[in-house]
Amino acid sequence: PEPSALSGKTVVVTAGPTREKIDGVRYLSNYSSGKMGFAIAAEAARRGATVHLVSGPVTLPTPPGVQRHDAESAVEMLEAARPLFADCDLFIGAAAVADYRPETPVEGKIKKHDAEMELRLVRNPDILAEFSTNRKPGQLAVGFALETAGGIDYARRKLTDKKLDLVAFNIYDGTTSGFEVDTNVLTLLDRDGAITELPLLSKEEAAERLLDAIELLLPR
Ligand code: PMT
Repeated sequence: PEPSALSGKTVVVTAGPTREKIDGVRYLSNYSSGKMGFAIAAEAARRGATVHLVSGPVTLPTPPGVQRHDAESAVEMLEAARPLFADCDLFIGAAAVADYRPETPVEGKIKKHDAEMELRLVRNPDILAEFSTNRKPGQLAVGFALETAGGIDYARRKLTDKKLDLVAFNIYDGTTSGFEVDTNVLTLLDRDGAITELPLLSKEEAAERLLDAIELLLPR
């Protein structure tokens, strides 16, 4: 077979959830397991790429040949990813990064007093957008957009707003596609307007099809 267009390229993949501290013993997070991002990192390494996997807190083993950088919060994930931006050919944001974090995490443990308490949240930095807006010509930016069915317009907006080369619209149905499960349903939208609807696949197969689509956009 022809050598992969990813062979010899450097790829940065984000994966998993982030945890945003409320106090010393509590956090805000989401149900991302990291499976989708880890499958992409594993397949890119298999295709001969140098792969940096920037991961939130997950319980998965590091795929063979992949360099792993662990982070807990969105701010830490950005700090771990930023030094890798300049020298990569491709950035794939598969992480479910929390959009907001508690403004002032409390040291120790918050005690309960009143019947209600308020938690003030502030926006987190957008890792994919920071890469995309500062990248050099030839560097590709790929994102995911998790939406319930019918959310393809939101996905298309992410493609244009973040100036991405490709976005994987990830249908969230709570059973076979999205967070935690081993399977996924992706629709790939690329910068040229091409739309590829993938069937229900294992996350490993979905990673292969995603990288096939990305290879077509990579400068040889
Ligand atoms: O980990 P799994 O259990 O296997 O589940 C996989 C997944 C559902 C988490 C994954 O396939 C997925 O869809 N990830 C993106 C989740 C999402 O809804 O992202 P978003 O719409 O908040 O963000 C859009 C894009 O910007 C994503 O590429 C995201 O990584 C990136 N982003 C978002 C916010 C932020 N602060 N920084 C980012 O880099």
